[in-house]
Amino acid sequence: MTRRRVTVTRLAELKAEGTPIVMVTAYDHPSARVAERAGVDMVLVGDSGAQVVLGHDSTVEITTDEMLVLARAVRRGVTSAFVVCDVPFGSTEISDEQAVATALRFAKEAGADAVKIEGGNPARLSRIGAIVDAGVPVVGHVGLTPQTAGALGGLRVQGRTEETAARFVREALAVEAAGACALVVEAVPSEVVAVVRRALRIPLIGIGAGPADGQVLVFHDLLGITEGRVATFVKQYAALGDAMVEGVARYAEEVRAGTFPASAHQYGATAEAVAAAEAELARD
Ligand code: KIV
Repeated sequence: MTRRRVTVTRLAELKAEGTPIVMVTAYDHPSARVAERAGVDMVLVGDSGAQVVLGHDSTVEITTDEMLVLARAVRRGVTSAFVVCDVPFGSTEISDEQAVATALRFAKEAGADAVKIEGGNPARLSRIGAIVDAGVPVVGHVGLTPQTAGALGGLRVQGRTEETAARFVREALAVEAAGACALVVEAVPSEVVAVVRRALRIPLIGIGAGPADGQVLVFHDLLGITEGRVATFVKQYAALGDAMVEGVARYAEEVRAGTFPASAHQYGATAEAVAAAEAELARD
């Protein structure tokens, strides 16, 4: 059965109906296919790919060209979910013109349905407005914004103090007013998120933000592919990392023992073909 394509309008309908919106990250064709087949509403080509796919320590290092490679692979795997692409650090900071040019690349070269832009300070609001005016939908991202985590004192929960709670509310409302069609909120206490949720008209998608209009998790975190410690807000629904290591280890064991390939994994030939091969070897 083909699913109805998720659009900005459909996202607004889901919020109005009170139907929770499901978003997950994807970075390549297989993860995109998994997300699509699982029936999620939104797929985020996150700059977290810098860490979980490219092995960097933070999201800062990934470039626009690298993000576009990931985004195109995801787009080819998604037919109905709404595809959002992160604009990486450095690709929108200089000017509104730079931000529009970057957003247009994601729309034209990767078929993005929207771009996601972190932050809610006046410069960021100007970028959001400019991109929306250029015709590309924008998803905002406030609370913990990993691209500028250094300025926030590290990868820390935001909105725990009077100052940061007030700033979070101010920025969330301003991002909506600037024209965003949805808002990702990362690592903010649920009680503080609940306050702003009462006032927001656009869908609020949480990650470490408690109950919201929708939830997003990183593919590798939720499937247990990520090695080591994961954030408090991550729930692991599978242990695929261990299953993958076990699979490759069993393969290595069988190759070393000579039990792979077995006859089921080999091609047969006629006696004549084998004889011809022998004759060819025996020539001169
Ligand atoms: O890049 C990413 O995966 C994200 C999510 C944490 C929302 O921005």
